[in-house]
Amino acid sequence: MKITISVIKADIGSIGGHIKPSNLLLETVKNYVSEYGKELLKDFYIGFTGDDIAILMTHTHGKGNEAVHKLAWDAFKAGTIVAKNQGLYGAGQDLLKDSFSGNVKGMGPAVAELEFEERPNEPFLFFAADKTEPGAYNLPLYLTFTDPMYCAGLLLSSEMSKGFKFTVMDVSYTRGDKVIDLKTPEEIYELASLLRDNERFVVESVYSRATGDQAVAVSTTRLHNIAGKYTGKDDPIMLVRVQKQFPATGEVLAPYSIGHLVGGFMRGSHTGPLMPVKLNSTISYFDGPPVVSCAAFCVQNGKLTEPVDAFDHPFWEYVRDQISKKAIEIRRQGFSGPAMLPYSELEYGGIVEIMNRLEKKFRVRKK
Ligand code: 13P
Ligand code: 13P
Ligand code: MG
Ligand code: MG
Repeated sequence: MKITISVIKADIGSIGGHIKPSNLLLETVKNYVSEYGKELLKDFYIGFTGDDIAILMTHTHGKGNEAVHKLAWDAFKAGTIVAKNQGLYGAGQDLLKDSFSGNVKGMGPAVAELEFEERPNEPFLFFAADKTEPGAYNLPLYLTFTDPMYCAGLLLSSEMSKGFKFTVMDVSYTRGDKVIDLKTPEEIYELASLLRDNERFVVESVYSRATGDQAVAVSTTRLHNIAGKYTGKDDPIMLVRVQKQFPATGEVLAPYSIGHLVGGFMRGSHTGPLMPVKLNSTISYFDGPPVVSCAAFCVQNGKLTEPVDAFDHPFWEYVRDQISKKAIEIRRQGFSGPAMLPYSELEYGGIVEIMNRLEKKFRVRKK
């Protein structure tokens, strides 16, 4: 059976700053999808990571389906009314357009979708990150899909050793989708040259070269490209199919033990280590650190199992301790150098105003 998994995610308000959505807000979104998605969907799951609510839906209508996208949009609209009534912070934050126009892409919410013929066993992973950017997945994806130091399957599986195709988007280009396809292992240096720049080049999808099947879908929204100003970080979501022709679950999770430094953290303007956290985790230290959660599922005829929390294991407690130390270490240098993002990426307007004022006061010394 051919099914589509669509995840649509938005920040529509949270308690106590940018920490987490309220229970009433989550219930409202859930009840809306449950009631109005009866005919349309095979199944759905609602979760949150930090202040972002994700609606994961299974159906048979293909990617970019208007009715599916509208259902999520309307659920977030219904949630926004509740968020406003409760006085939640940033109510409706990611709903950047007034009326729905066919597809939530370019309207604020993040989208990741996979369409495939179900295998007899169909495990997949759903990642959601908060206080960071879509390029946060670049390094983990690179290591899982190209590096046998992290992914044993590249050596041990005859299908995986045929390599993968990456589609990478230049998210600085705003007049359309500017993408490039690169084949691994032949083009790993070209791929690395792009992926080193998480702000600009983002892995959008990965395909198996053995079967042509899509393994990965990442959301590539750039909120400030839509709104023309900072409205929150583009907290990214990702779907990854696993096992058989794809990496094993553990090979996809392994690179998250690094706690690599990503853009985001306080006011979307800093650098911090990406911490793998449990499902439905909140945000704390310096509006961070940047976090990523992972729900593992199996699906059959579009019906989802309950999620398994992939980062809820004693091993990750140790990793989280290490990453907390890394977060404190970089915070010790405050605004200085790489601890704060470069001027071109600074998400808040205040510093731009300061720089404009100072520019007028600069003087060039006569020789
Ligand atoms: P199975 O042999 O149980 O499928 O496990 C293989 C595997 O992926 C272990 O990492
Ligand atoms: P969000 O993008 O998660 O709403 O965070 C905004 C922010 O500025 C946190 O400091
Ligand atoms: Mg927020
Ligand atoms: Mg968020």
